[in-house]
Amino acid sequence: MAEITRRGFICAGAAVAAISAAPAVAATGVKTVAGKTVMDLASNKVLAKVGGVVELSISKYGKVAVVRTSKSNSGYSVINLSCPHAGVIVKQSSGGWSCAAPRGHGSEFALNGSLKVGPATSALRSIKFTATSKTLTIS
Ligand code: FES
Repeated sequence: MAEITRRGFICAGAAVAAISAAPAVAATGVKTVAGKTVMDLASNKVLAKVGGVVELSISKYGKVAVVRTSKSNSGYSVINLSCPHAGVIVKQSSGGWSCAAPRGHGSEFALNGSLKVGPATSALRSIKFTATSKTLTIS
């Protein structure tokens, strides 16, 4: 297993923090194939830009966001929007995701789902996916 250095960790965090997010839009061009959710990327043009976000609901996971994190074919984060503290659905904020009052308790998450401020003690749950230049498939 590769170790990450303190410097590498800080640089990676700064890169994620530097992504400026576009307001999330509802995903389109989504279908279920053999139990997997397949999203047509051409139908979700907001994901062409780093910082683009689409949201969708998947029966297996609930509310999910797909975030473009880099220009590479696999440069996405797919995250469950249920707060790991007590399950409130987080909302997009200027810096990422917020679990605000009155239902939430103030946790803040980066756009890729990493934890910034508690009381949550972990990141938004990552969901496995594969991506090509044309589709993103959520397992
Ligand atoms: S449910 Fe999100 S901070 Fe408590």
